[in-house]
Amino acid sequence: MYSEKVIDHFTNPRNAGELKNPDGVGLAGNPVCGDVMKITIKVRKENCKDFIDDVKFKTMGCAAAIATSSMVTELAKGKTINDAMKITRIDISDALCGLPQVKMHCSNLAADALNEAIYDYMSKRNLTIPDDLESRHKKTIKETEGTGHKHDDADAPVDECG
Ligand code: FES
Repeated sequence: MYSEKVIDHFTNPRNAGELKNPDGVGLAGNPVCGDVMKITIKVRKENCKDFIDDVKFKTMGCAAAIATSSMVTELAKGKTINDAMKITRIDISDALCGLPQVKMHCSNLAADALNEAIYDYMSKRNLTIPDDLESRHKKTIKETEGTGHKHDDADAPVDECG
């Protein structure tokens, strides 16, 4: 059912945990299963660009949620926030050599929580938020609230994965 890469990232997740004093915090809930994901980022400025210097995740999710979160942290680390916000669930699934169709919804959590962390970083610094990120933010808030979690819960702890 799962690729070797999925099993590797599930059994040995990269960047699990939570950053202290993060520059951005993102929370996303999955309306299909009610699971939730939190991503924290540290951002470094270099040559007037914002790079994701460090990123960690915590999730109350399934094996696919853990593997996709682990992979999204690897894909995002070192990228500019503009490039990182373009990472899609398909990119994440491809990097994991595919996910079973019934588990594709799990990969939304990872991409959405990363987007939310970037949104949080940009809004706190009054940076211009692209329309696409704004509309994904609104959708994620609605979906997260549908799971019983609130956007304000981003500062609350989420159980560690694994
Ligand atoms: Fe909920 Fe996979 S079943 S994230």
